[in-house]
Amino acid sequence: MIGDTTQNQADTELIAWIDSVPFSKPAKNLTKDFSDAVLVAEILKLYYPRYVELHNYVPASNLNTKIDNWNTLNRKVLAKIDVKLNKDTICHLANGTQGAIEKLLLELRTRILKDDEKLHKQKLTKHNEEGIDIQLSKEKIRDNSPCGEQLNSPVGSLDSPEASDGICQPSPVSKVGRFKRGISMVFGWIASLFLRNIFRSFRFNKHSRNMILDGITCAKLLCLAAAIVLGGAALLLVGLYLYFTFTRGVCKSKSRMDGKTVIITGCTSGIGRETAKNLAKRGARLIMACRNTDKANQLKDEITKETNNSNIVVRMLDLSSLQSIREFAKQINREEARLDVLIHNAGTAETFRKKVTEDGLEMTMATNYFGPFLLTHLLIDLLKRSKPSRIVVIASELYRIARLNLNNINPTSTLPAYLYYVSKYANIVFTLELARRLDGTGVTANCLHPGMVDSGIWRNVPAPLSWCLYLIIKAFFKTPEQGAQTTIHLAVSEELNGVSGKYFVDCAKYELSNAVKDPAKGKKLWELSEPLVKLQPSDSKI
Ligand SMILES: NC(=O)c1ccc[n+]([C@@H]2O[C@H](COP(=O)([O-])OP(=O)(O)OC[C@H]3O[C@@H](n4cnc5c(N)ncnc54)[C@H](OP(=O)(O)O)[C@@H]3O)[C@@H](O)[C@H]2O)c1
Repeated sequence: MIGDTTQNQADTELIAWIDSVPFSKPAKNLTKDFSDAVLVAEILKLYYPRYVELHNYVPASNLNTKIDNWNTLNRKVLAKIDVKLNKDTICHLANGTQGAIEKLLLELRTRILKDDEKLHKQKLTKHNEEGIDIQLSKEKIRDNSPCGEQLNSPVGSLDSPEASDGICQPSPVSKVGRFKRGISMVFGWIASLFLRNIFRSFRFNKHSRNMILDGITCAKLLCLAAAIVLGGAALLLVGLYLYFTFTRGVCKSKSRMDGKTVIITGCTSGIGRETAKNLAKRGARLIMACRNTDKANQLKDEITKETNNSNIVVRMLDLSSLQSIREFAKQINREEARLDVLIHNAGTAETFRKKVTEDGLEMTMATNYFGPFLLTHLLIDLLKRSKPSRIVVIASELYRIARLNLNNINPTSTLPAYLYYVSKYANIVFTLELARRLDGTGVTANCLHPGMVDSGIWRNVPAPLSWCLYLIIKAFFKTPEQGAQTTIHLAVSEELNGVSGKYFVDCAKYELSNAVKDPAKGKKLWELSEPLVKLQPSDSKI
């Protein structure tokens, strides 16, 4: 029990509240026992379970670790619930300055009660709209018991991507979400009309049924069944088409990039090509980092003509070769005074042909993951000198069908088709770990899914699979220009200043799976990758 009681009413309530929390260790002294942030993290876990990962907070007596814990809590949780702490306050908390923890706990309790109230109102409104007469007692909502479902998950209970951004703040995702729901409703309504009419036509009385059955031949029944199947399929296609057409995100930012330098890897085709054009139009100095320099030079002339931007250079970069990456980085560090945006766009996908690079790395993993990993290290000092600067990584939503085997991150005998998804998984784990390591440096790192795009990435799919794929691509996939929107958004939008460690789809933040967000996985992948890309002691560590 906390012995440090005061006469003040607020303090008495505070202590009663703290006493009701089932902490992992006894909390005897507010100032001392709370100074490493662990117990505060445990309190917040009860109310904002989605924001708090307890393994991030290590019990500590050492001042540096305590400050680290507070910084993590500040960034990952407190900032999201509008209780951000400044450096001085963190110092006081970690040092156990008298009164600092009480002040924070009082503020947290007020915030939590406010959020509960909002949730309570939302629930009442929802029930009233549905005409359900439910009496939610205020006391129940305010119950501090860790088992109280309402209290336990004000955040977790909002099961949508925008919920991760805070309790009641609408985000761009929510607009897209509403739109998607709208399309699904219209589509569902048309489908139900269609099915209702079909079923209605089968509601006959006995007499008419006998007459009809007498007249219906087997051929007619088959035709009817075929019509139903085809009608349903057509409806499904129309619905999918509408869905894919109207849920495409567009970068609305008008930001200019004059005076800024951008590197885009692999921009001779597809998404990279369109990104390059757009950024050139905005006035950026563009470094086209490509392995096919003839093709890149042709495109450079085309872009210059189209945009009047002659500040574009082509530099040789083959991401599947560690030597090529080092030579490219050396040239950039020698020639360029600044680097504002590094876009890891280049990517390759094979289906069956297994290939190993000259460095002994599996080809898909080398190009899509190990190459960008090494390149980031070799350019990080230039990015830091040009802060605020950004790193943008093109991943893929298809990471969800893969697993990252940390016992073998260079799987040279696995089917490359599957490794494409693994490499995109690794891209995301890498970006999140990179963002953690770059915290406070002025360099941000975010990743994205461009959507399913009609680009060269599908070129290695063999026939006859490619024939079906061709139809689907042409009917439903985005054009490269549409596919480039999220990359452009992450590279230029002012609203993303300072935003780091996030994943975006259709120009809006998007929730990642818990598995890919695991910081332990990020740390391990990083440590395993360093020797594989032959990182030298003289190279910058991130
Ligand atoms: N298309 C989609 O549906 C989709 C979906 C999710 C994610 N993505 C990702 O989006 C990114 C762009 O792909 P895309 O769809 O635009 O495909 P794309 O048209 O095939 O473009 C890929 C680019 O990467 C370059 N490249 C390939 N291997 C390289 C290497 N070893 N070194 C340097 N450059 C290399 C290619 O250059 P060459 O011209 O020399 O081949 C090409 O410019 C990729 O990271 C991809 O994984 C695409």
